[in-house]
Amino acid sequence: MNMLLVYFSQTGNTRKVAQTMADEFGMKGHTVRVLPMMETPLADITGCDVLGIGTPCFESQAPTPVKDYLSTLPYMQGKRAFVFATSGGSPGRVLHDLARLLQSKGASVMAGFKARGTVHHPAPCLMGRMPERPDQKDLTHARVFAESLDDHLQSGRSGPVPETSRYALRRTWGFYDLVSLIAQPFLLRILLPRPRIDQSLCKQCTICARECPMKSISLDPYPILDDQCIRCYHCQNICPQKAVTSSWLFGNIVIFTLYNTLFARLFGDVEPGERIY
Ligand SMILES: Cc1cc2nc3c(=O)[nH]c(=O)nc-3n(C[C@H](O)[C@H](O)[C@H](O)COP(=O)(O)O)c2cc1C
Repeated sequence: MNMLLVYFSQTGNTRKVAQTMADEFGMKGHTVRVLPMMETPLADITGCDVLGIGTPCFESQAPTPVKDYLSTLPYMQGKRAFVFATSGGSPGRVLHDLARLLQSKGASVMAGFKARGTVHHPAPCLMGRMPERPDQKDLTHARVFAESLDDHLQSGRSGPVPETSRYALRRTWGFYDLVSLIAQPFLLRILLPRPRIDQSLCKQCTICARECPMKSISLDPYPILDDQCIRCYHCQNICPQKAVTSSWLFGNIVIFTLYNTLFARLFGDVEPGERIY
């Protein structure tokens, strides 16, 4: 089969999972391509037999640019699809967001997979969470998932793939599902710090403007952020001059209140003994 895996990934975790699945599908004899979301032409999506969509979890849900991208897809009645995500804690409703958006385009979503991924977020309470994930064990799970999906496709069975995460294909109402409902972009812009650009350090290399997933940064001649910023802090993470900063006095308290490790264990899916930091 002609398979296309489309991923959004800022720090490489989701890309690693996508590549691992693609390798497994390739070994099973499928023709597989793995493409970054923002560079995937719509014709490639409509042309493939099986579509996989992968993303990190942001604020317990699918990132805004991913939702925006999926909403631009054409109608694709009956297209076989699956979803996957990485998260630094409880994935909330990210898989369900992806599945729901694909289903709204007519796709038949067969499976969902989730793995952990190291967090690169400037909030001090999050930085470095889930170190070295996805690790070999996570990637082995990704292979097993791909194997099971291949088996499902070969056998022509209908219904969900047995390895599917229980969060993927139906809405759940846990604590982090509720957090995802309140964590709307307008509120994040109020509660979380706005990235600041230090012009004395900026060398106008333009990487922040090119990489911003919302295209929220323009150059005049120094970077200027508009009001569509989703507070993903990718500009801060990738600036080679460290010219982008943010002040976490208040935002860290907000994030810690919702995403502390006790809540992640009690209300999320963080397993006993799982290393968080
Ligand atoms: C802006 C931002 C928000 C995030 N929000 C969450 C979250 O709500 N829950 C969670 O489990 N992980 C969260 N994470 C962690 C990422 O989901 C995780 O690190 C993911 O593996 C990153 O994937 P990537 O390397 O493919 O970009 C967040 C990360 C960032 C940068």
